Amino acid sequence: PALNRLLNLQDVEDVARKVLPYKAMAYYSSASDDEISHNQNIIAFSRLFFHPRVLRPVSVCNASTTLLSTPTSIPIFISPAALARLGHPLGEANLTRGAYRTNIIQIVSSNASLSYEAIADARPDPNQVLWFQLYKNKDIMKAEARVKEVVKLGYKAICLTVDAIVPGNREKDIRAPWVLDNMENLGGAKWGDVVRQPGDAEVEEKEINIMGTAGALISNDDRDMTWSETILWLRSITKLPIVIKGIQCVADAVLAAESGVDGIIISNHGGRQLEYSLPSIEVLYRLQKERPDVFDQLEVYMDGGVRRGTDVLKAICLGAKAVGLGRPFLYAQSAYGEAGVVRLVRILEREIISGMQMLGAQSLKDLVPEMVERVDWYSA
Ligand code: FNR
Repeated sequence: PALNRLLNLQDVEDVARKVLPYKAMAYYSSASDDEISHNQNIIAFSRLFFHPRVLRPVSVCNASTTLLSTPTSIPIFISPAALARLGHPLGEANLTRGAYRTNIIQIVSSNASLSYEAIADARPDPNQVLWFQLYKNKDIMKAEARVKEVVKLGYKAICLTVDAIVPGNREKDIRAPWVLDNMENLGGAKWGDVVRQPGDAEVEEKEINIMGTAGALISNDDRDMTWSETILWLRSITKLPIVIKGIQCVADAVLAAESGVDGIIISNHGGRQLEYSLPSIEVLYRLQKERPDVFDQLEVYMDGGVRRGTDVLKAICLGAKAVGLGRPFLYAQSAYGEAGVVRLVRILEREIISGMQMLGAQSLKDLVPEMVERVDWYSA
C-alpha cells in the first residue's frame, strides 16, 4: 500500500509481515520463550488511563524537548537494533536519514550491519546527533577501541546495554534457518567478526542455529560487568554522557542514579531477554511512585511496546524524558526505506499532538504523574 494509507504502527507492521524475508521477520519479531514479557510490554499500557484536563488553551501545542541537551522534535528516539540490512539493503542508513528529516535521535547498535563510520557518513548534516549503544567486549582492549572509534566518529552519547549478558531464548529466530550467503551479502564489518569464528562453514552454521542470531552476535561480550568497575571504566575512557540501557527494576534505577550516569533506559530488550521481566511501563510507573527523586538525578527513558501516541504520553506523564521504539522502526525501514521511517514519526507526531491537546497540555511539562491512573479492572 501507498505510504499515506498507513494510519498507525500496526499498519506498518502488517506490511512488513507481507514483504520481509522470512529470516528478517523471524529475527525482528522474536522474543524470549512464550513472548509474555514482549506481549505484556504492549498490554501494560492498556492498564493506564488518563485524567485529562479541560478548558485549557491548546491551539498552540508543542511536543519538542531535549535529550541530554540535544533537541528532539517529539519525545521519541530510535532504540538500537541490530542488523537493519536484513530487512532492507540500505539498513541503518535509512534510519539515519529518516531521523534527520524528522529531527529525532537514533541510537546506533553495536551490532549494526553497516560500519559505524558508514552510518555517520549517511548523515545529511554532520551536526546530526547520533548516540551509540555499547555491547562491551570481554577483551577490554577491544571494548576500549570500540568506544574510542565512535567518539572519534562524532557519536554524542554511549548507551551501555546491561540486560543481554547471555542471549534470550528466541525460538522463532532459532528455528528460522540462517543463510550464510545472505549474511555475507550484508557485508557488515563489526558483527561479522563475531559471527565468523574460526572453523568451517558447516560448524559455523550449526552453532549459529543453536544460539540464534543474538547468541552469535554477543558471544564475546563481558558477562562480569559490575556497578563499581564497569561504569568507572567507561567514565575513564570517555567524557561523553553515559546512559545505562536495560534497567528492569526500581532498585537498579536507584543504583544507576547513585553511580552518577547521565541517563537510564528502562527496558527489558523488547521482551527478548529475561522472560517475565516486568513490562517497562510498569517499572516506570513504580519508579515514579516509589522513588520520584531519581527523576531529578538523571534522565529516565523507557522502551518496549510503545505503539501509540498515547503510550508515549503516558510515559511522559510518569516522568520519562522520552521513549524508544525498536521493532516499529525496523519494520518501517524494511518495508519502505527512509520514507517509511519518516512516515512512522509523522504518525506518532500526529497522535502525540492531538493527545496532548485533548489532555489539556501545551507542552510536555504540562504532563504530570497525576494525569495517569493505573486500573485493575481492565486487562486486554
Ligand atoms: C533489539 N534490541 C537491541 N538492544 C540493544 O541494546 N542492542 C541491540 O543490538 C539490539 N538489537 C535488537 C534487535 C532487534 C531485532 C530488536 C527487536 C531489538 C532491543 C531494542 O533496543 C529495544 O529495547 C526493543 O526493541 C524495544 O521494544 P520494541 O519497541 O521493539 O517493542
